[in-house]
Amino acid sequence: MVVTNDNEIVLEARGIYKSFGYNQVLTGVDFSLKKGEIHGLLGLNGSGKTTLLNILNGVFEPDKGEIVLFGKKIEKLTPEIAKRLGLVLCNQIPMIFYNLTVSENILIGQEPVKKWAGGVTLIDKTRLRQISEEVLELCGFELSPDANAKSLTPSQQKQVEIARALTYNAQVIFFDEPTNMMSPRDAERLFELMLELKNKGKSIVYVTHRISEAFRICDRITVLRDGKRVGTVISKESNVADVVAMISRNIASVPEHKKKITSEEVIIELRNVTALPDKIGERMLEDINLKIFKGQITGIVGVVGSGKTELAKVIAGIKSINSGEVIVLGEPVSNNVLEMIKRGVFYLPEDIMVEGLIPAMSIRENMSLVGLELGEFAAKYPGGINRKEEKEMAVEIIRRLNIVPQNTEFPVQRLSGGNKKKVLIGRGLLVKPKILLLDEPTMGVDIPSSMDFLNMILKWAEEGITPIIFSSEFERILPILERVIILRDGKIVGELYGEEISETKINTLIAE
Ligand SMILES: Nc1ncnc2c1ncn2[C@@H]1O[C@H](COP(=O)(O)OP(=O)(O)OP(=O)(O)O)[C@@H](O)[C@H]1O
Ligand SMILES: [Mg+2]
Repeated sequence: MVVTNDNEIVLEARGIYKSFGYNQVLTGVDFSLKKGEIHGLLGLNGSGKTTLLNILNGVFEPDKGEIVLFGKKIEKLTPEIAKRLGLVLCNQIPMIFYNLTVSENILIGQEPVKKWAGGVTLIDKTRLRQISEEVLELCGFELSPDANAKSLTPSQQKQVEIARALTYNAQVIFFDEPTNMMSPRDAERLFELMLELKNKGKSIVYVTHRISEAFRICDRITVLRDGKRVGTVISKESNVADVVAMISRNIASVPEHKKKITSEEVIIELRNVTALPDKIGERMLEDINLKIFKGQITGIVGVVGSGKTELAKVIAGIKSINSGEVIVLGEPVSNNVLEMIKRGVFYLPEDIMVEGLIPAMSIRENMSLVGLELGEFAAKYPGGINRKEEKEMAVEIIRRLNIVPQNTEFPVQRLSGGNKKKVLIGRGLLVKPKILLLDEPTMGVDIPSSMDFLNMILKWAEEGITPIIFSSEFERILPILERVIILRDGKIVGELYGEEISETKINTLIAE
């Protein structure tokens, strides 16, 4: 029997190096994880967090360095070996098989089997369903095991990824930004589960951009910067300001937005709009009455699942309504999305990979993708593309959004999660529409980049674009909002203007 104590180091990475071509991503990183510890891993977008997790789970092989598990050096690590050794990775971007059900996705690779006479082995579908139902219940997720994965919302995909990680009897679980796209209630339940695992002596690595969450739940926090370990602190002996300083050399300042535009021109109007869900997990929109004014920076806020995406899609012409009226730029909304884009209404989806980006294409191509149908580009070069100008614009956007690496031709599938999101935002910048609907634009984006983004929004508004931000991370966007509309359960439950806007007031309205 192995005798353990609470300070026992379960997993250790020593001097890990990793490069992709010329891109040196990790440089001599040391990391240790104790038994029964929750260890936060923080750092800017592209600092190497996901890469380190991938190495510790055998997805990538390090160029140099050692991995030691329970005091024993691991000679070879593949994802299969990692799982057998009790290491489980809950991915930042959920790994979902769209032709399978929720329960098949949860138990993929671990399907319970039954033997038939004659030695035939078959998947035990009843058990499969039962186990996944149990784990979904444990997590408190309201998700049917029988649902088709292709109909899941981004938030539900995240739930599947988390449920899957919890089905393994793991010693170590690596959670890569698990609370993104999660409602506060689900996030609370996840924290409880993490503490339960900790109390059972399991160890957890927790990657997040939400520093206060890290302080709430982690015993120690390690910070990476440019692929190097800046340091490791004991949460109780440190504070948010110190960790923020470790994360970034330049502590970002919140843009102070004093100008309150009082425009009278209504550019979007919804009258008694009701829209039924098109798929499971969608929220029904109920009797929405709303006017949006030109140039006013409006935030439509609410928890994940409150109907924000549905409302954005109704305005963009992507989702049809069941009753009521939607007038956009003086005309009834059209359900021909391209037509809406041509009119100048552009929707940037919350989900990066499925609805948002084309993984194999470059940063430049992903940015100019739909934009070529619209705005200055389309007017200048009808039916054609000026490649030189396209590239120049991509270079400019990469610089302004601080996308790493600064290479227009880099395929987006190889970008870090936050940088993928920035490419999507860059598309909006290239298009310069009249109305820009941004769905969860700060999700997965580090704090300094979120600040750059807010500054950009302010500039857009000055240039005559009307940005509408749909967000559950409203604390991040508040400094620039002139007006806040609060959604709860598919209904508008409150509205705040200018000076009345505060985090406390919004929280009260959201929760009532
Ligand atoms: N397969 C790959 N090929 C080339 N470069 C890669 C690959 N995977 C990751 N990188 C690069 O490694 C760097 C670190 O990426 P990583 O995903 O580890 O960052 P991260 O800290 O998780 O960031 P985020 O907070 O945005 O998720 C990035 O510059 C990224 O482009
Ligand atoms: Mg990452």
